[in-house]
Amino acid sequence: MASTLVLLGPPGSGKGTQAARLGEDLGFRQLATGDLLREARAQGTQLGVRAADYMDRGELVPDDVILETVCDAIARADDEPIVLDGFPRSEAQADALAGALERQGRDVTAAILIDVPDEVVVERISGRGQGRSDDNPDTVRERLRVYHDETEPLVAYYDDRGLLRRVDGAQAPDAVYEQVRRSAEER
Ligand code: AP5
Ligand code: MG
Repeated sequence: MASTLVLLGPPGSGKGTQAARLGEDLGFRQLATGDLLREARAQGTQLGVRAADYMDRGELVPDDVILETVCDAIARADDEPIVLDGFPRSEAQADALAGALERQGRDVTAAILIDVPDEVVVERISGRGQGRSDDNPDTVRERLRVYHDETEPLVAYYDDRGLLRRVDGAQAPDAVYEQVRRSAEER
């Protein structure tokens, strides 16, 4: 069965950076919900229009907006290995993911937590300079609050299922990747 990895971690922890490395190095197909939503906004699709205000406030877009998109992408992945970046972000999404994967005959093989303290997050995001509309200080604070309130409970969720792997995300990107790769290959 092909691997399905979940990358967990606060905003700016390096989920996108590490997912790209897994793609280049081990051939993982990347499924990044934030990137999908930003593309939808740039194209002005109905999905993008519905997501815009939530994203700019740093809040989660409603599940009905995101779940269909993710389930379609999973169905299209066939038996390729997948790395999920930014999904699931709540217990309801984690349950929906489990159901969608089961329909494809697969399941989550590991949830890798990229652990980074809040101060480092704020510093990194303010230095990113990609012009993201949610990278201003007020929205970053709200994104961190939403992470701690809604997404962090998934650490216990996956730990209870024996799937959690912790990585120290405050190291340099290469050192983080070394731990991510090891966690990805561990069965
Ligand atoms: P999303 O796009 O997922 O944003 P996020 O979780 O806030 O995370 P970021 O993309 O900002 O950071 P990252 O962890 O990918 O780090 P990166 O590698 O870029 O979501 C955006 C919004 O979309 C949400 O707020 C929500 O509204 C909506 N959304 C998305 N998914 C959703 C869902 N499932 N349900 C509902 N709503 C959803 O790194 C950050 C910076 O640090 C970069 O400059 C990078 O170069 C640098 N860096 C990376 N690693 C290191 C390192 N080890 N050392 C030093 N610098 C590093
Ligand atoms: Mg990202």
